[in-house]
Amino acid sequence: MIVAEQKNSIISVIYNKDHISLLDQRLLPQKMEYVRLSTINDVWHAIHQLQVRGAPAIGIAAAFGLALWANHWQSSDLPSFLKALHRAKSQLASSRPTAVNLFWALARVVDQAKRASSVREAKILIEKEALEIQAEDEEICRRIGEHGLTLFSDEQNIMTICNAGSIATARYGTALAPFYLAKEAGWNLHIYACETRPLLQGARLTTWELQQADIDVTLITDNMAAHTMRTKNIDAVIVGCDRVAKNGDVANKIGTFGLALQAKSLHIPFYVAAPLSTFDFQTLTGEEIPIEERADEEVSHIGQIATAPANTKVFNPAFDITPASYITAFITEHGIFAPDNLEKLIELKTKERST
Ligand code: MRU
Repeated sequence: MIVAEQKNSIISVIYNKDHISLLDQRLLPQKMEYVRLSTINDVWHAIHQLQVRGAPAIGIAAAFGLALWANHWQSSDLPSFLKALHRAKSQLASSRPTAVNLFWALARVVDQAKRASSVREAKILIEKEALEIQAEDEEICRRIGEHGLTLFSDEQNIMTICNAGSIATARYGTALAPFYLAKEAGWNLHIYACETRPLLQGARLTTWELQQADIDVTLITDNMAAHTMRTKNIDAVIVGCDRVAKNGDVANKIGTFGLALQAKSLHIPFYVAAPLSTFDFQTLTGEEIPIEERADEEVSHIGQIATAPANTKVFNPAFDITPASYITAFITEHGIFAPDNLEKLIELKTKERST
């Protein structure tokens, strides 16, 4: 077992040229185990089955998946390499539909390969770009944490859902990044983590990560959120996200919209932490964001144990859309933005696309 650990963070995706070492997030918190991914099919399955999950981490894993694929390529014929690269990109893009970071990272890597004048050069550019995506994400998350910290103060009570921590990114996380930095600053924040049915990312991953970092965390079931907001003096809710549409609507883990509705009724600020790579200005509103629906068993069973009669009809959307009007602000690496004031981010994204 490989353990890649830094203070307050665990690296979930490690590129090794001929394989990827991936922290198997399905096994946490019982086991901290890295699996070896040697082929693009392994990477597809790892993303599809949520061995790696969280929007930025999915993008990083997919980018390394292309590097892995390229390293296996034998011929020196560039046109056939590029054609096959597009097929590899489409395969990885089909692993999950909602988090835009997946498509963003794949496009970034393929764009680099198109600049090459030989297969050898393309392979080098692909690997370099994938490593850069990972390195940039760590820096970006740290900046999200710094901006986020300006919205909080010592001893506050903050609620979150799902897992938007270190293992969902290169390091630090998005929604959890301010908590790590608050800890570094000597603050005591009190975090309430919603368990996040059906796959329990909040219970299994967020509590585990925050405990590793010695941050005070209390677990609640999702249906305790409104009561907890009112009785435990929740000062703010902060969540990560999988895609932001041009009008500021947000796709995030199922249950996020419910939290936003409750927070608004109780006059509690509701923040969404996300890197620019999660903003998708090609998608105009939340209505256009594809929402992944997953297997019935995730709802009708807990592990192998059935919690509903056999053949019970199930609806299992993995994400929901929170309309922009419920969001107090976005916390990004470029600063804090109200949902009706995304022009600067649109400008930055346009610049990014033209370089
Ligand atoms: O289905 P998951 O576990 O991949 O869903 C993850 C989330 O919804 C996260 O909140 C989001 O990806 C942000 S991670 C920084």
